[in-house]
Amino acid sequence: MNPHSASGSETESFIPAPGATRGKPVGTGVAIRGTGAYTPEKVLTNDDITHLVDTTDEWIVTRTGIRERRIAAPDETAADMAVRAGARALEKAGLNPADIDLVIVATITPDMPFPSTACLVQDRLGMGPVCAFDVEAACSGFIYITEIATSMLQSGRFHNALVIGTEKLSSILDWNDRSTCVLFGDGAGAAVLSREENGNGDGGRGIIDTRLGADGSASNILYMPGGGCRIPATAASVTAGHHFLKMNGREVFKIAVRIMGQASQDILTDNNLGLGDAALIIPHQANSRIIEMLSERMKLPMDRFHMNLDRLGNTSAASVPLALDEAVEQGKIRPGDYVVLVAFGAGLTWGATLLRW
Ligand code: ACO
Repeated sequence: MNPHSASGSETESFIPAPGATRGKPVGTGVAIRGTGAYTPEKVLTNDDITHLVDTTDEWIVTRTGIRERRIAAPDETAADMAVRAGARALEKAGLNPADIDLVIVATITPDMPFPSTACLVQDRLGMGPVCAFDVEAACSGFIYITEIATSMLQSGRFHNALVIGTEKLSSILDWNDRSTCVLFGDGAGAAVLSREENGNGDGGRGIIDTRLGADGSASNILYMPGGGCRIPATAASVTAGHHFLKMNGREVFKIAVRIMGQASQDILTDNNLGLGDAALIIPHQANSRIIEMLSERMKLPMDRFHMNLDRLGNTSAASVPLALDEAVEQGKIRPGDYVVLVAFGAGLTWGATLLRW
């Protein structure tokens, strides 16, 4: 089946010990200067999916909160979507491609195993021969690349970075597996990060802090077995479905609630902020029930959590930047607001970023 033909054991993990940040939150000297988003035209509703697998709109909405998702055109790739989102972020940042000296793309669905999707994007956007590479940290990818770019900008050797999460997850879904195909969608989200020459410390805007973590012992609950050197593509591997995403949803769910809650709390309290100081949390858009549990755990009302998964589903590395751009466009983030980005994904990986808008 394919979407274009449709009518319509809990693993022990840990959060790394907090840094030594104490007192007022101190910025890193790096700020988000503009965001951008792109989602494909084709909308695949839950009703459309009932023509592919044995499911119902009611089951999907009740268990996940997802009502529809976007599906890229057959010839539309992760790089195509990244270019659209990246161009928009540049426009909103008021910069030209020539101003960018670092391009990092997070994706688990690159156009090809190599070269990197970042190199394709660098070329297509007409940038100079600047540093460009991909990072694979699944749904935490955007948090990972934001931290990597922030550190590289802080080094003083780079000035403006374009970071993009882009995914064509529809290309790695088994459209006969109802337990996974209902969950995911395609799209891209981007941000331009710049060094703030005057620093952004006391009271200023910008990235304040980030926590990253990973636990490879849980790699077997969310993975794609084929396509790497362990199971290269052969007629047999394709027939066996090794090139599709596999997930133990129940296990992922339990860990996601715990890790996203812990990471969000730690990033605020380690910076001497109360949980209520976060004007908005931008969580990875996997499942509304995960976000509701996060809201209960943090004792924050649901309107402090931005959600768009009802319309876009889980877009993995694109999820957080797509939600961030939407929140900015909707005026939900005002200058001076503390915002937390938080995600978890295959690896398992997780991360949280605290920033001041
Ligand atoms: N429609 C109807 N029934 C279904 C469907 C479906 N689409 N999918 C599964 N079912 C059935 C199952 O077969 C099962 O039936 P059974 O009891 O007869 O065996 C029943 O529904 C319950 O299945 P569960 O898997 O226990 O359902 P659960 O309530 O756990 O919900 C879900 C499943 C939505 C996947 C949930 O576990 C979840 O959201 N997990 C987290 C997934 C996630 O966050 N992934 C993000 C990471 S993505 C990344 O990193 C790339």
